[in-house]
Amino acid sequence: MDDLRKPILPGKGASDYERYLRTDELLSLQKRPEEFLHKDELTFQVVHQASELLLKGAAWELERAHEHISEGDFANAAALLRRGNHMLEFPISLLHVLETITPYDYHLIRAGLGHGSGLDSPGFLALLHIGPRLGEAFHEELRKANVSVDDVYRRHDELFGLHDVAERLLDFDERVHLFRFHHLKLAQRIIGGGVVGTMGTPVEVLHQRMEHLFYKELWDVRNQITARASEMLEKGGAGHQ
Ligand code: HEM
Repeated sequence: MDDLRKPILPGKGASDYERYLRTDELLSLQKRPEEFLHKDELTFQVVHQASELLLKGAAWELERAHEHISEGDFANAAALLRRGNHMLEFPISLLHVLETITPYDYHLIRAGLGHGSGLDSPGFLALLHIGPRLGEAFHEELRKANVSVDDVYRRHDELFGLHDVAERLLDFDERVHLFRFHHLKLAQRIIGGGVVGTMGTPVEVLHQRMEHLFYKELWDVRNQITARASEMLEKGGAGHQ
């Protein structure tokens, strides 16, 4: 019988686990302890690298969802949007790990960042790229079905697939917003809200970027629904609060 402990995959590493995941390479992508500008630097690098991986994974699933929306396959689109959104939970919660770095210590790490800035984050840029395209694909499907956003919400039982996609897009928008919010708080906590970043961008700009939403119409439709319900209530009809 073959020895199941022996690796059979090609590549470096003592086991197939290490070969498949390329852990030798992955775990050599951080500075060595003798290179650290402060001992907190490993945490700083691990949080950023882990976030980039998760943002890459999320953007990949959202691209797949985009294909499904364009094919009118809303069930698979919603499933992949759900998975991508779930992945985004982790970069958000990892921001809180960095809140444990105290400002004086952070400045020792920051001295080694050059012009490095999250504005160049490949993972976040991938989200900014897929976001509007998901919205366009969704609206194209509404046109094909000859329905409005309001119809999707009013007739949500009948238009379940489109409604599910709409709600998952809203989840995505909310997560990007939450990432920006917690990231802003992190920057304000560590370097302050009145300074400029390593790429010359004032922290205040992070505040302005929080105004950005991918799917404003999906947020706005709630206002219309509430306004109509209130109108009905005033007229003495049935309605929600
Ligand atoms: C100590 C922690 C951090 C600080 C002080 C910080 C600070 C900043 C600042 C000041 C900016 C404005 C641009 C500039 O650099 O000039 C920025 C942008 C950005 N950072 Fe960070 N950051 C931190 C951690 C992170 C982490 C962990 C990520 C995860 C990938 C990240 C992702 C981003 C992104 C995506 C932007 C662009 C934001 C947008 O488009 O709204 N940052 N950061």
